[in-house]
Amino acid sequence: MSNPPLLAGRHIVLGLSGGVACYKAAELTRELVRAGATVQVVMTEAAGHFITRATMQAVSGRPVFDSQWDPAPPAGMAHIDLSREADAILVAPASADFIAQLAQGRAGELLALLCLARPIERCPLLLAPAMNREMWAHPATQRNLAQVRADGATVLGPGTGSQACGETGDGRMLEAAELRDALAAFFQPKHLAGRTVLVTAGPTFEPIDPVRGITNHSSGKMGFAVARAAAEAGARVTLVAGPVHLPTPAGVVRIDVQTAQQMFDAVLPRAISHDIFVATAAVADWRPAGTQAQKIKKQGAGSAAPQLALVENPDILAAVAALPLAQRPWCVGFAAESENLAAHARAKLVRKGVPLVVGNLGPATFGRDDNSLLLVDATGDHPLPPADKLTLARQLVAEIATRMATGTETAK
Ligand code: C5P
Repeated sequence: MSNPPLLAGRHIVLGLSGGVACYKAAELTRELVRAGATVQVVMTEAAGHFITRATMQAVSGRPVFDSQWDPAPPAGMAHIDLSREADAILVAPASADFIAQLAQGRAGELLALLCLARPIERCPLLLAPAMNREMWAHPATQRNLAQVRADGATVLGPGTGSQACGETGDGRMLEAAELRDALAAFFQPKHLAGRTVLVTAGPTFEPIDPVRGITNHSSGKMGFAVARAAAEAGARVTLVAGPVHLPTPAGVVRIDVQTAQQMFDAVLPRAISHDIFVATAAVADWRPAGTQAQKIKKQGAGSAAPQLALVENPDILAAVAALPLAQRPWCVGFAAESENLAAHARAKLVRKGVPLVVGNLGPATFGRDDNSLLLVDATGDHPLPPADKLTLARQLVAEIATRMATGTETAK
């Protein structure tokens, strides 16, 4: 359950145009197949100079097409047949020359031909550019990109960094896993298009001295999944993260903090400019009244233990939920409980003054990749059965969008 089949049932035509980034195309094919997709590879003649048909056939498990004159497809029309079966065409790498061909509507080779001949409404075209930084920055390339975007293509990346030519800059093809995730995100319904979402995630850490502190159990995985799902759904997402070791989801703006007070200071000024606030962070309720500048030393066996005075941390969610209605984002709280989930979650709904609380059983979920949730709101209790955290986060995002659309609370 831990690895969601991101592309289950999807049929992808993977086009390779000529560029050294073709070396990543084999790994990309493996990633797409592992994620549940079937992959039909189509190569240009130039791509064949960088990677062999045999390699691409082996990793995709299907014969590779590279010529419009191939008599194998029914009626001998690969340029028609291939796109009719596809959920999307992904060209990776998309070279500067290939993008120029698309911009002009040229069809001199099978790959460009099938992009032109695809049913534009139901077979989306995604391009992962890969080229030298000067080629990328050239006005002709930028003009062609603007044209292919205007014609409906989606451009993924490019990344930035060191290039095969020895230079450094924009134009690297995204990595295989990034392209897999971008493709999966592309297929998600855009429930939150045009919305802004603020998410807190992870634990906080309240220092006692330079080597010790008070913290909570939380890997941050659920909060990061919520941020990713919101971004996939078309929102602009800001993620305020406590100390966790997780990669930032694509397209998400991340702010790292350590203490509850820092999380509060990061969230409160930003809350007003966001439509939705999802508080998944496991915020420490108390912090030491004062932090010792040096490590507190043991005074010898049997000596008195130091007495820790604690003070209460600000309640971030309650503070956001108490903003005037016109400034307040639509608030979602989380409740990690060890028992009586429904009752505790409902009590939190009232205490925090929020329209939705998401309950989960803490010990069953801490650090794991899967979970089950109980959505508690004014209309009742709604369980989301066990699934990986990304699947649950996507369901939660859809539930939030529905509630905002039906105006469960007067949102901004
Ligand atoms: O206050 P309690 O821990 O019971 O409620 C949990 C919910 O409140 C979570 O959504 C958590 O992110 C949020 N919270 C907060 N600031 C705190 C404590 C909890 O935002 N200081």
